[in-house]
Amino acid sequence: MGLDELERQRDLAVCGYSLAEGAQTRFAAEGAHDPTATRYFVLEKLFSQMEFDVDSHLLDVGCGAGRALAYYVEVGLPGRATGVELDPVLARRASTWARNFPQLAVVEGSVLDVSLRPYTHFYLFNPFDSCVLERFVEKLEAEVRGCVTLCHMSDNGENYLFWGRAGWRLQTEGWIHEYEGSPAFNCPQHWSIWQFDRA
Ligand SMILES: C[S@@+](CC[C@H](N)C(=O)[O-])C[C@H]1O[C@@H](n2cnc3c(N)ncnc32)[C@H](O)[C@@H]1O
Repeated sequence: MGLDELERQRDLAVCGYSLAEGAQTRFAAEGAHDPTATRYFVLEKLFSQMEFDVDSHLLDVGCGAGRALAYYVEVGLPGRATGVELDPVLARRASTWARNFPQLAVVEGSVLDVSLRPYTHFYLFNPFDSCVLERFVEKLEAEVRGCVTLCHMSDNGENYLFWGRAGWRLQTEGWIHEYEGSPAFNCPQHWSIWQFDRA
């Protein structure tokens, strides 16, 4: 079975429909990138390197139709997960299935307009351009209390943005391109997991 079909079956088991996305964003003027769902094998690799407990609250920044939220409930990670999505069509797709799971929530709108204080973990799969990313990072630095974990992945190396900022510490990083010997992306994706503590 191919990777796309494997992922479709995992989506169907949790959500009842496929969460794969292909369309171009209608929000490029706001700096948004196209809605591409994170592949499950990537979520396995990244989320297994973050620690979650019953008090954890993950924010998937630009959740699309909700693949990362689906993974969260599929593997039974502890705590809660929320997705925020700028595109109202995608936000509605995500909230339609996510309402079956009390530990999930979906917010429609820009992450720049929601409070970041409730969250302990942040996941960003290339949601927007580096101007919006910088505004998001500044907002996070101003709002969160205590230590939070952030996982960022993109194909354009923009993790340079975190380097040298007060309070940020790189936990681990790497590249992902292939799944079982075949390319799973058009180009390699760089990922990094950070801890931010403003204390
Ligand atoms: C590459 S997709 C990632 C989808 C999902 N996080 C996943 O990993 O499966 C990026 C998403 O970020 C959304 N997005 C872009 N700018 C945003 C913003 N300012 N606030 C919330 N979502 C945004 C896009 O509409 C798109 O659906």
